[in-house]
Amino acid sequence: MQSNILFIDDDAAVLDALKWTFSDEPYECFTCKTAGEALSLIAEMDFAVVVSDQRMPEMSGVDFLEEIKRQRPATIRILMTAYQEMNLILKAVNKGHIYNLIFKPWDEVELKGIIKTAVEDYTLRNGWSVSKQVISDVDQLIQLNQSLEQKNQYLMTRLQQAQKMEALGNLSSGIAHDFNNILFAINGILKLALVDKSLQTKMHKHLSMALEAATRAKDLVSQILSFSSTSEKNGTPVKLGPLVKEVLEFIKAAQPPDIEIHQDITVGDEKVQLEITKVYQILMNLCSNAFEAMKSSGGIVRISLSRTQIDQPEQVEQMKLLPGDYFCLTVSDNGHGIDEASMQRIFDPYFTTKRENGGTGLGLALSSQIVQDHGGRIAVESVINKGASFTVYLPLIAENQE
Ligand SMILES: Nc1ncnc2c1ncn2[C@@H]1O[C@H](COP(=O)(O)OP(=O)(O)OP(=O)(O)O)[C@@H](O)[C@H]1O
Ligand SMILES: [Mg+2]
Repeated sequence: MQSNILFIDDDAAVLDALKWTFSDEPYECFTCKTAGEALSLIAEMDFAVVVSDQRMPEMSGVDFLEEIKRQRPATIRILMTAYQEMNLILKAVNKGHIYNLIFKPWDEVELKGIIKTAVEDYTLRNGWSVSKQVISDVDQLIQLNQSLEQKNQYLMTRLQQAQKMEALGNLSSGIAHDFNNILFAINGILKLALVDKSLQTKMHKHLSMALEAATRAKDLVSQILSFSSTSEKNGTPVKLGPLVKEVLEFIKAAQPPDIEIHQDITVGDEKVQLEITKVYQILMNLCSNAFEAMKSSGGIVRISLSRTQIDQPEQVEQMKLLPGDYFCLTVSDNGHGIDEASMQRIFDPYFTTKRENGGTGLGLALSSQIVQDHGGRIAVESVINKGASFTVYLPLIAENQE
């Protein structure tokens, strides 16, 4: 904090010279041409040092400084004089009204030295004002520390969650590999058995059912394997608009009769760095979830693809995405929606509310991991009994990056 210094002199040229002399010093310098003007300023703010001329029209410097002592006893008072009115002045000094004297014309180095000592003295004597500043700085530091601790705690929770996921991923992929080998054998043997012409019809039917179940198990295992290895592949630049249209053609072929699909694709040739099959995987997962949520009621699934720019700090904070241009792929439905408890867990691997209907709970976990591995994020909104809306943000590749 800079100290305030006030100079009072009825001669504007003197004030200008003083201001100029202290322009490179670490003080906030104020000047007044009359004692009255200076007193109103002093009533409003604290000054470390007041330097007054002795000869002023309204009142003498000694009287003025005596008044200052009454109003602001802590302020250091210095008298500046060109006249050798020593008797009077010494009396004032003895009474303690004046801290020091400066004789005109002043010596610049000496003047600066006097003011410096006065400011230091003021700061020492008025430690409370310094410590008030220190206390407010400490308060700010405590607040900052508290907010950092909160952030730290949040990051620790995220880290623990990430470590848990990693461990789960490793475990699942280990088990899935072993299962894959076993299922490979079971599938092969079943296929072999089924080509046996001597097989009875009933036996053939049972073996076919076993093969169907084993094939489903193989699909599940390959989903688990791909969940554990999503970050390995990065893909090549691909035009997302045409690709989404292509995937939608597939989805429409499997569309339940009581569900309508509305699509709104407003992007052109912009590209994303992603494997084509991953785009299929994400969109099919989101659409099949939407279909399932409207299974009993029917309804409309709206799929839109547009682009957006994230550049405001609030957006970055809220969306947890780096600034830049993004694709927004939204899949909305008017199905049963997602309750609050499920909302906290829908992206967790193996979380499903469809266990009885064969849900694995990997669809969203897998999609979200793919999107995150490519610098994006899936945001979700839902109103219970009204529907759910999933928006996939994927970074656009800048043309000069291709
Ligand atoms: N559009 C939606 N509307 C309502 N709930 C949804 C929607 N999408 C996902 N959910 C909820 O999120 C859960 C997890 O979804 P996810 O796709 O990961 O697995 P799943 O659909 O249950 O299983 P799978 O994808 O293997 O069929 C679902 O079980 C469901 O409860
Ligand atoms: Mg699903």
